[in-house]
Amino acid sequence: MLLGVNIDHVATLRNARGGIEPSVLNAALICEKSGCHGITTHLREDRRHIKDEDVRTLSGIIKTRLNLEMAATEEMQRIALDILPDCCCIVPERRQEVTTEGGLEVASRLNMMKKFIKPLSEAGIVVSLFITPDHEQIEAAAEAGAKFVELHTGAYSEAYGKKNEEYEFNRLCSAAKLAQSLGLKVNAGHGLNYENVHRMHQIDGLVELNIGHSIISRAVFTGLEQAVKDMLSLIA
Ligand code: PXP
Repeated sequence: MLLGVNIDHVATLRNARGGIEPSVLNAALICEKSGCHGITTHLREDRRHIKDEDVRTLSGIIKTRLNLEMAATEEMQRIALDILPDCCCIVPERRQEVTTEGGLEVASRLNMMKKFIKPLSEAGIVVSLFITPDHEQIEAAAEAGAKFVELHTGAYSEAYGKKNEEYEFNRLCSAAKLAQSLGLKVNAGHGLNYENVHRMHQIDGLVELNIGHSIISRAVFTGLEQAVKDMLSLIA
């Protein structure tokens, strides 16, 4: 499996003092030097961590792949078409949430999602939809024209080590299987950490894991290079 490192929380720390440290760009370069396969950033509507200039600078400098997470809004579509990241992962967004809580609602907004995805795909951006492991949403994602789905692993991560772990894990397996049968490629992410990530090996055909909070948290103690290498050794 490939590893995309979400570096949003380097920007969270930087923004706490309003200065330039720690550098988001340096973080991305260290992640790449440590062997990750892509850099992920979420440009939120409220710009609480990553800012527009960060995305622009990263897109010109990084050598792996830039995966821009964004809401399905006209503003974000305009920015993506201007900056042209390698991939866009469309996520739901609510201003008050601490992090991306649920998956994208695709099934009830199929036409809107088709219209949103089309120009991005035509511009050469690989589009992924961040969805809960729900069959209705997966079928809709395939119909909407996405190339990838990213399965929301938040419920599995929460359940890890508890009695509903098996239930949540099986939902991921079944969702991945359905998605692949419909021609979608499958990524996964949210809440994955050094303890719970091992079960991702048991899901056939996962392409990439996008992991942020646990890696940046470990980096406080080990340094970013080691934190990325530790995660890579678990998922390779
Ligand atoms: N994938 C998506 C689509 C996300 O929105 C996030 C959180 O920004 C992640 C992966 C990474 O989640 P975490 O920070 O919990 O590893």
